[in-house]
This record gives sequence, structure tokens and C-alpha cells, in this order.
Amino acid sequence: MFAVWALLLTAVIITGTADFSFEKIDYLNGKHLIVATADLNPYMYIYHDSNGTIDHADGIVHEMMLWLARKYNFTFHYVEPPDGYFGAFVNGSWNGMVAMAVRKEIDLIATQLTTTYARSKVIDFTTSFSKDPMSAVIPAPREDNFMSAIVKPFQPGVWALIIFSMFSGATVTWIFMKLIHKYMPEYYNGGISNLQFWENFMYYFGIISSQAGRTMPSVGPLGHATRMIAAGWCLTSVVFVYLYSGCLTSFITIPKLYPLIESLDDLSTSVDLELTILKNSVFESMILEAVSGTYKMLGDSLRNKPENRLPSDYLEPEIFLKKALTGRFAMVDQKSFLEYVLNKAYTISGKCEVTLMKQEIVTSLDSMAVQKHSQYLAQIDQGFQTMAALGLQNYWEKRFLKRPKCEGNLDTGIAKPRLTLANLFSAFLLLMGGMGISCFVFVIENIWFFYNKNGRKETNTTLLK
Ligand SMILES: *[C@@H]1O[C@H](CO)[C@@H](O)[C@H](O)[C@H]1NC(C)=O
Ligand SMILES: *[C@@H]1O[C@H](CO)[C@@H](O)[C@H](O)[C@H]1NC(C)=O
Ligand SMILES: *[C@@H]1O[C@H](CO)[C@@H](O)[C@H](O)[C@H]1NC(C)=O
Repeated sequence: MFAVWALLLTAVIITGTADFSFEKIDYLNGKHLIVATADLNPYMYIYHDSNGTIDHADGIVHEMMLWLARKYNFTFHYVEPPDGYFGAFVNGSWNGMVAMAVRKEIDLIATQLTTTYARSKVIDFTTSFSKDPMSAVIPAPREDNFMSAIVKPFQPGVWALIIFSMFSGATVTWIFMKLIHKYMPEYYNGGISNLQFWENFMYYFGIISSQAGRTMPSVGPLGHATRMIAAGWCLTSVVFVYLYSGCLTSFITIPKLYPLIESLDDLSTSVDLELTILKNSVFESMILEAVSGTYKMLGDSLRNKPENRLPSDYLEPEIFLKKALTGRFAMVDQKSFLEYVLNKAYTISGKCEVTLMKQEIVTSLDSMAVQKHSQYLAQIDQGFQTMAALGLQNYWEKRFLKRPKCEGNLDTGIAKPRLTLANLFSAFLLLMGGMGISCFVFVIENIWFFYNKNGRKETNTTLLK
């Protein structure tokens, strides 16, 4: 048996060496390819002349195309999809560049095309050349609003409790005084004013606002109970006042910057920001198809606001940036594109008005693509592998992808050497508020006074009649 196998094998080898010569598969040599592409900075920059036809191109993908064309001796020209889309399955048919490949109008899609299972059923992807997460451009965090600084040291519940303690303390001392005055009048020497509730309250208020000059409510030799409440309040106030002033100082002098949102979860519940995304993009389909969770909520927000599904004009960084600068949107796109936009924003204004969301969303592999069963695929794959091995892709990425200044330097604020008017504005505002209320009360009291006077006059006159 073994001998037969050996014999057969020898025969195969002998005939093989005789007939086999490795045929040099070179489908690309001398060909002219029609290449679909779309402007996607920094992977692809397309420049048009005044007539709107493509004049020249640049970017990582364009460098790759030039290298492939030189290596495999082919020529090419770029065409753009009429609808501007990359390709999504809408209403039972494909659109964008994928549709062009399906209709066999083009030989190659050369841009940063995200590989998806649905697309892979109608076109063939090359090996991937980049890995690009999705992210979102969001408004840069601004310094805290100093208006709120004066109330910020305590949570609302704490404030409420402090005010409540003030009132209840005042109520208890007031009741004690009333009782002692009524049932043990010989022991009462607290004065007439201490029998007023507001007089008691002003004592508590004076302590917590560090105003000296009010004496402890006392009622004579038997009033230790009221003195103890007052003493307790004094000690408690020390804690409140010192904590408050310490926190206030740190809030004002070391501002902290909080990004509006850090993740998609934050976005789905955010009241400040709305999701916007490029129409017919892969991530949009994911969101719109979701049936539960965060993606479903985001999908609902897109369905409610169809204008947040951006047309392909928004592939233009300037137009994209303009919308991002309105400060109302979290604009989801490929991170490389967003970094490019961020760099552009910084060059234009010199400030960080927009930044990137901290969370990276799905990471996609990006490839070029050819028609289904295209004979060019093997050669282009081989070209990609050679480029990667030569380090050419790293080189191009270093050249075209720049990490923006405004990304991720938001965690710490810088201590201020001096306080500005803005820092203290809330205090002045409080004073103005106080004056306003005082004037208002003055007016009300006057109205009340004159109304009563006239009223009394009338009663007097009726009595006289
Ligand atoms: C490259 O392609 C051109 C046609 O575009 C052809 O004339 C030339 O012979 C090719 N060169 C090689 C080395 O095959
Ligand atoms: C634009 O089109 C006109 C007419 O078709 C032509 O004469 C002109 O040269 C074109 N301009 C450019 C920059 O190609
Ligand atoms: C899909 O088809 C429906 C009905 O045929 C139409 O109303 C809708 O506008 C189409 N949607 C798109 C995106 O073309």
C-alpha cells in the first residue's frame, strides 16, 4: 500500500516539475482602474477645480493608491458617489460607493471604508489598513459657573437642614421663654423682645453668619435649657462655617473642568447635547437597528429629530466644525476625522472650544473594497501586506494623523493667582438680590400701611355715622 502511494507521489512530482511553472498572476498590469472615493480627512483629501471636477487628491489612502499604481503598473482615476454616501442598505438596496461596486461601475473603493458583515456579502474587502474607533466631538468643558459657587459647598439637602435647624432652634427657645414667662414670671428677666419669635431667630442667624453683637437668649436664673440649645448651635455653627469657607475657597481658586458627557450612556440621558451622526453610516445603522438599551435610546432621539442625521456635506470638516461649535451636539464620527476637525478648530481660534468624548465607541477595521469576486483582490492584498511590512503605513499615519491639543487635557484646572470679578460675582449678586428684596418689602409694607390706615378711617367713619 505504502509503496503504491510513494510511486504515485513520485509520478506527481515528476510530471509537476515538468508542467508546473508558477504563472505570474498580474491582472493589474497596464490596466486603468475607476476608483470610487470620498473626501474623508485625513485619510483622503479631494480637491476640486472651479467646475467641481476632481483636480488632485492627498492623504493616507491616496499615498497608498499611488504606491500600488507604481508597484503594479496600473493607472486610475477617481470618481465620487453621486449621493456622497459610503454605502448603507436602505429600502432594500444599497446606496453610495457600495452600490457603485455592486453595479460594477467601479473597480475599487479607495477610502477608509468600514468592514461590516452586511457589506461583505455584496463586495469583497481587502485586508484592513487601519483601525479607527468611533468617538464624538463635544463642546469643551467650561470653567464652573461662579454664580453657583456660593451655594456649591453644600448639597441642597444640607442647606435645607441648616435652615430647618435654625428655625427649629429659634422655635424651641421662643417656646421655652414664653412658658417661663407665663408660668414662672418671677424668674423671667429675658426682656420683652425675647418673647418675639423673630428676635430669637435673628440670634441663630447672627451666629451662623458670624455676626457678633447678639447675646444668647437668656431668661434669668432658670433658663439653662435655652442657654444649652444656644451653646449647641454655636458649636455646630463653627463646623458649618469653617467647612463652608474652606470649600468655597477651593471651589473658587481651583476651578475644575467637567466634560459635559463622558460616554454614550451619558449622551443618551444628556439634556445639554443631542446626538448627530452621518446619515447612512455604519454606526447610524447600528443605532437605528438597536431594540434595547443605550443604542435604542439614541436611535429614538435620531428618529425624533431626523435633522440630526447629517447629509454627506458634513464630510467637509469646515461644515462639520461649524455645527460642532454651536455647542449643542455630540457629533459622532471616526476618531481620525474628529481629531482632524479638532486640530482645525484649534488653528482657527487658538482655543479649545471643542474636545473629544472620553469613551471610544466601537472600533472598526477599515479597508478598501473591490467588486465581489474581483480578480484584483489578491494583488491589492499583497500590496497592502508589503506596505505594512515596509512600515509605509506607519510613516503615512505619522504624517497625516496629528493628536490634537484639545484632546484629554481637561482633568485639572489651574490654580489662580488672583481672584477675578467673575469669581466674586455671585457674592455681589447676592447683595443685589438682598437689596432688591428689601426694596420690594419696603413697598409692600407701605402699601399695607396705607391700606390699613384707609381701612381704619373707613371703619371709623362708619362707626361715626
Ligand atoms: C506598464 O503598463 C504600460 C501600459 O499602461 C505598458 O505599456 C508597459 O509595458 C507596462 N510596463 C511593464 C513593466 O509591464
Ligand atoms: C470649466 O468648464 C469650462 C467649460 O466646460 C472649460 O472651458 C473650463 O476650462 C473648465 N475649467 C477648468 C478649471 O477645468
Ligand atoms: C423608503 O421607501 C418608502 C416607501 O417606499 C419611502 O416613503 C421612504 O422615503 C423611503 N426611504 C428612503 C430613505 O428612501
